Amino acid sequence: MSNSNTPLVQVKDLTVTFGSGRQKFTAVQNVSFDIRRGETFGLVGESGSGKTTIGRAIIRVNPVAGGEILYNGQRISGRIPRALDREVTRKLQMIFQDPMSSLNERAKVDYIVSEGLYGRGLSEAQRREKVEQALREVGLLPEFASRFPHEFSGGQRQRIGIARALIMEPEFIVADEPISALDVSIRAQVLNLLSQLQKQRGLTYLFISHDLSVMRFICDRIAVIHLGRLVELADTETLFRHPLHPYTRALLSAVPIPDPRAEREKKLVVYDPSCHEYDADPPAWCEAEPGHFVRANRRELDAYQTILQQNGDNDHD
Ligand SMILES: Nc1ncnc2c1ncn2[C@@H]1O[C@H](COP(=O)(O)OP(=O)(O)OP(=O)(O)O)[C@@H](O)[C@H]1O
Ligand SMILES: [Mg+2]
Repeated sequence: MSNSNTPLVQVKDLTVTFGSGRQKFTAVQNVSFDIRRGETFGLVGESGSGKTTIGRAIIRVNPVAGGEILYNGQRISGRIPRALDREVTRKLQMIFQDPMSSLNERAKVDYIVSEGLYGRGLSEAQRREKVEQALREVGLLPEFASRFPHEFSGGQRQRIGIARALIMEPEFIVADEPISALDVSIRAQVLNLLSQLQKQRGLTYLFISHDLSVMRFICDRIAVIHLGRLVELADTETLFRHPLHPYTRALLSAVPIPDPRAEREKKLVVYDPSCHEYDADPPAWCEAEPGHFVRANRRELDAYQTILQQNGDNDHD
């Protein structure tokens, strides 16, 4: 069933819909990817493209309309045994974009951080001990347990959100835009904390963002999503050096270049989906080179493979 080579998370042909009948809306369509143990897997795309929907489907908040999700080789989507559900609820955690709205304003930090532990038969002393330990681990003082969320800065609140996930001793964390709402000056601190925790605890992350320049530094691999479908997936360096899909190219062209002169002179690429003629030759999810996937039809795939061939030749010169 599972061994150390089995990806920790396997998303297979996932479709998620909202509403029903004529109101039915397909937010995510036929999405497939694997997340390997210990990696940071990035999911990037514009607002409304389905990133959060995928994260919530993995942690069993959003029901799956098609396809399946495996964790450790075991199906965790749809109806599953109670014991497995409890296990998933503990091992898979999520941290959110907006630390201001994701924390219960009327509860003390002590309650917020340990909420997930209730019903686990811990004594009050054990629970407190765990809260203190989790706060220390995210760089907060244990005394903060008796305060309310509004007494903290944005960065501290995000740390509280991380402590709340950590206390469950998770293996896998969906980090949904964890730094987007924070001041630029404290973003790096929170990113460093996440990567330090990953090393210490062997965590695996699904890192959701619309900001490729941040992802370049922390993601091992990146999947690009557009209108509910993946359009490209590759390891981070490959995606930045040899992007294939026009939407990926458009996203990359919007990433700031550190050189101000190059920045002023660069051209923004605009992605126009209507440029594809798909009637006779429909697109599919293809592996253009090992580990590098792209949504393309036959004609486009041929063109992409020619480009990769040329890039490869140039790289060796
Ligand atoms: N519970 C829901 N009911 C109905 N529609 C929903 C629901 N959740 C998400 N959607 C819709 O599904 C689509 C994808 O939403 P999602 O939140 O996954 O996007 P996102 O990529 O996370 O965007 P953002 O970057 O703004 O967070 C959107 O059109 C959204 O309006
Ligand atoms: Mg979102």
